[in-house]
Amino acid sequence: MILVGIIISGKDIAKEKKEVLKNKVSEYINKYGRAPHLTVILIGEDPGSVSYVKGKSKGCLEVGIKNTTLTYPTTIKEEELLNIIRELNNDNEVDGILVQLPLPSHINSSHVINTISPNKDVDGFHPKNVASLYLKESGILPCTPKGIIEVLESASIEIEGKRACVIGRSNIVGLPVSKLLLDKNATVTIAHSKTKNLKEITSTADILIAAVGKPLFVKEDMVKDGAVVIDVGVNRNPETGKLCGDVDFENVKDKASYITKVPGGIGPMTITCLLENTVECYLKHMEE
Ligand code: GUN
Repeated sequence: MILVGIIISGKDIAKEKKEVLKNKVSEYINKYGRAPHLTVILIGEDPGSVSYVKGKSKGCLEVGIKNTTLTYPTTIKEEELLNIIRELNNDNEVDGILVQLPLPSHINSSHVINTISPNKDVDGFHPKNVASLYLKESGILPCTPKGIIEVLESASIEIEGKRACVIGRSNIVGLPVSKLLLDKNATVTIAHSKTKNLKEITSTADILIAAVGKPLFVKEDMVKDGAVVIDVGVNRNPETGKLCGDVDFENVKDKASYITKVPGGIGPMTITCLLENTVECYLKHMEE
């Protein structure tokens, strides 16, 4: 069967969501007398991290969230960074704290994540928020997994009863998105780069989520006819140097019923969910 995959534009969905959020933020500013405030900490000058942080600042500006970006050299000591976070935890004018990952190897990222107050943890990485997700209690959901579910829902893609396969098992994407899909009554297989006979597994999936971090890894022979293919990869194409996903889009698009593209797919949704999480933290804080 030849299908022409419908491209789901995360960028367009994100744009609509940002419009809604912008209106709400302006109401909240009137009500509470100040804008929500996100503080982002960037260590070093890794081009990928710099670009992510710029995207976050731009998103804040678009919806009226105050953004402060604090930058430090890679020589910063772990204890210094933890003290900066502790101060932000106690700062009544800061609603959300995000430390851009990855961190230099002398800084233990668990120590950093555990130090951010769970109430200001807009990434949803703190163990308390992770536990809330697994126990189905209210907490802050991680941005990319939340964005993926919203993309599926915006495109009216049924999740219940479907077979989903997630390639990737990271704490940031693979594991939490698998849990969210499971909660929506999909049957979920978590695969990874070391899975044997990966093709046999991926090609039975109605919903295939690629979050493995390998450029153009998913090819047409790994995809079931009519599958929904969601690409979470943010990689550089080794040949062209351009941004590319984990899915070889040109190779896969005619086999999928719906497909996301990189760029313009899940990335913009991650940022929008971060903005929503910031507003959620702000509201809790203001209504305390
Ligand atoms: N680095 C890559 N993605 C992310 C993210 O979602 N949050 C943080 N803090 N760092 C990242």
